Amino acid sequence: MISKETIEQVLLRNDVETVIGGYVSLKRAGSNLKGLCPFHSEKTPSFTVYPQDNSFYCFGCGAGGDVINFIRKRENLDYPDAVEFLADRAGITIVRDERGSSYSPTPKFDRAKMFRMNADAAKYFHARLFDNTPKSAAALEYFTKSRGLSLAVIKHFGLGFAPDSFDEFSKYMTSKGYTYDELVAGFLVGRSDKGGYYDAFRNRVMFPIIDVSGNVIAFGGRVMDDSKPKYKNSSDTPVFKKSRNLFALNFARLSCAETMILCEGYMDVIAMHSAGFTNAVATLGTAITSEQARMMSRYTKKVIISYDADEAGQKAAMRAIGMLSEVGLDVTILKVPGAKDPDEYIKTYGADKFRSLLESSKTRFEYNSENILSRHDLNLPHDKIKALHEMEKLISETYSSAERDIYIRSTAKKFEVDPKSVKADVDRIIAKATSQYKKEAAGKMRQDAIGYSDRVNPDFIKAPAAAKNEEAVLGLLLLYPEHRKYVFEGDTLTPDDFFTSLGKRIFEYLKTAYSEGDDAHLGIGEVFSEDELGRITRMKISRMQLTENGREVLTSAIAALKKSVDKKASQKTNTYEGLNQLLMRKRGD
Ligand code: GTP
Ligand code: MN
Repeated sequence: MISKETIEQVLLRNDVETVIGGYVSLKRAGSNLKGLCPFHSEKTPSFTVYPQDNSFYCFGCGAGGDVINFIRKRENLDYPDAVEFLADRAGITIVRDERGSSYSPTPKFDRAKMFRMNADAAKYFHARLFDNTPKSAAALEYFTKSRGLSLAVIKHFGLGFAPDSFDEFSKYMTSKGYTYDELVAGFLVGRSDKGGYYDAFRNRVMFPIIDVSGNVIAFGGRVMDDSKPKYKNSSDTPVFKKSRNLFALNFARLSCAETMILCEGYMDVIAMHSAGFTNAVATLGTAITSEQARMMSRYTKKVIISYDADEAGQKAAMRAIGMLSEVGLDVTILKVPGAKDPDEYIKTYGADKFRSLLESSKTRFEYNSENILSRHDLNLPHDKIKALHEMEKLISETYSSAERDIYIRSTAKKFEVDPKSVKADVDRIIAKATSQYKKEAAGKMRQDAIGYSDRVNPDFIKAPAAAKNEEAVLGLLLLYPEHRKYVFEGDTLTPDDFFTSLGKRIFEYLKTAYSEGDDAHLGIGEVFSEDELGRITRMKISRMQLTENGREVLTSAIAALKKSVDKKASQKTNTYEGLNQLLMRKRGD
């Protein structure tokens, strides 16, 4: 267990506003702050920070809690690691006792040591590139001759070579004090079924992946011929999530104020940087994730997608457009004519040509309409109608009505039809989609209202009215020490007054904490799950928004709760549940 003093220090020196402000761009809204939620995809901010309560809550996805729970979710750490992360941030040293380290079911690795281990590995691979053996000379030649990289670029990216051996690397690393367990956890060494160890990267040129703080967090290794698999990339490790990092972001973030270029491959990025386009980044062998899109939106306003020219690359680019626009970025797409990828294009046609290509990158609409027009022959009436319908559908997907007007006019002109007819068609498509959407949204809201989709508190649906009363009472207790004093000193409520098991647990937790000195907020993160903490925060927030939260409000909430629990059986006859369920439960009672 982490001591309450430690948690108190950590919370004191890491105020929500500053810590969360480092991840989310927050704008003041009254006494609170608002921003786009980092835990789900949204266009209008429903993520709120409450400085007076030291908490955050997202009305869109229900994530919430204190700054520790934020870091836990955002950095994907377990509770003790999140506390340690924040302690590090505030310059507090914390010593963990036995129970602290056994909290996590997976073996615990020292993050700082993992970073050192990766840095030592990167230095080793880099040095091997220049050690003048025939094999490393071949690797160096691959970079310089086959891929046309200068020594400066090789040094800048810290590129390297992993020798063709099963144990040369691991022998070196263990001699430096790293254990096999650590090397395996870092994906640098593999463990065979028989229990032996082998170097994970062999006879490959190496690309270190570096995070924005300059830590080496992972590697990609490429063969130097046509053998398969072409690349071997680190899997996720305790210090690396491939869905949350971008290759070369450590460099690009310094030169991407206006625009960033998003590529598919390491080699594309390296070619771009060496040609002077130092604002290029790449995903790490996967399609772009919403987390990566949000990361990019922290550094830039506009993204040019520059993927491979083949069909797979273009399809991936379309998906990336959606992901990136969703977080509010301006996005355009680049097509490289006469080359399979940007790397080859720059090598064949030079940096200047690529620069003008960048300037002619297309918006989603331009890109898609060019595609539609190239697939149809407008001289054939039948084909022309098909093309027009596709254009209208495309226009209907444009959010801004002014933009739609422009497209409607240009399309009508191109197809030689009356703009009014195009507009009528587009409006019909939009109306249909809207009514469909409304139907779905209404259904979802109804479900939410009755708690059908409530995974955090599954008992909620069994007696929604009782559960709502519970939340009111718990919200008041969570917020006000004087209410806790009144309830716990006077034995006004017992756990049996609570109907949902989550409600009961929260009440019991608060009661125990009260008897131990009433510092519930210091231990709460260790007892409740991330999602439960979100719900607990919601209980507080809903009360904070009310002006009257005094004793009278509390006593009437308690009365309502007791009454609703007494009336549990009669509540089941409400419209939420069918007669069958009612009968079944009656029999069970
Ligand atoms: P070159 O072929 O050397 O030009 O490499 P590239 O970096 O341009 O790679 P490519 O466009 O073929 O692929 C894009 C990215 O996907 C690479 O940078 C890798 O991260 C990943 N990738 C490609 N091939 C493989 C593979 O065989 N296995 C894995 N795990 N990842 C791959
Ligand atoms: Mn390539």
